[in-house]
Amino acid sequence: MKECRHVAIIMDGNGRWAKAKGMPRTAGHKVGADNVRTIAIAANELGVKYLTLYAFSTENWKRSNDEVNYLMKLPAYLFKMYMKEFLERGFRIRLIGDLSALPEATRKVLLDAADESKDNTGLSLIIAINYGSRDEIRRAVKSIAEKVKAGELEPEEIEEETISDALDTRDFPDVDLLIRTSGEQRISNYLLWQIAYAELEFVPESWPEFTPEVLARCIEEYTHRDRRFGGVTNE
Ligand code: IPE
Ligand code: IPE
Ligand code: MG
Repeated sequence: MKECRHVAIIMDGNGRWAKAKGMPRTAGHKVGADNVRTIAIAANELGVKYLTLYAFSTENWKRSNDEVNYLMKLPAYLFKMYMKEFLERGFRIRLIGDLSALPEATRKVLLDAADESKDNTGLSLIIAINYGSRDEIRRAVKSIAEKVKAGELEPEEIEEETISDALDTRDFPDVDLLIRTSGEQRISNYLLWQIAYAELEFVPESWPEFTPEVLARCIEEYTHRDRRFGGVTNE
């Protein structure tokens, strides 16, 4: 069966889900955080090795202060509730995005979780926070330019790998399957380099409604796709 090692999810629709139930948007984010646990466990059981979750984009700062503050406190909630279980299951917490711009307390909670789980070899649960693909590429280009300037690298030596290795995702394989919940069909600045040959699936369920069964269906659908990578199918 075709392996689905790396699944990336755009966890969308929390706010609309809550509003439709007469609750504030933040109530949707809380249920969404609880669902991170459920879906990480399910992904692990389905054989996924890397699960990258879009938690906060570089554009999400445009939201109200109240909503941003709430979202910045969610990692503390998530790890307080579920870190023990994540550790028991062998999960390793990893981070992508520009952590330097996060509130100090949020950054500490995230770095502590990554540090505490660093020797685990099970599922890599990768949290994309203050993540924007263009910003990630900008930071990568800057680091490569600095190496050139320092005389450590010649422009002719820049390969695709030089770029991959300068991205936040340098330790992870490319994305196999990208899922977006809540029916929107766009990428919203997520993993542009890493999804070059990913299969894309857009599901109508909002993130709080996204169940292990829906995930299993997405992975099942993925196994029927014909990934040609620019070549031709071998029959
Ligand atoms: C996804 O849900 C979570 C974040 C972007 C932080 P939204 O908050 O975008 O919910 P909708 O899309 O407005 O319903
Ligand atoms: C993408 O969702 C970001 C996250 C899920 C964290 P958004 O809700 O911010 O994206 P747009 O604004 O609909 O494109
Ligand atoms: Mg949204």
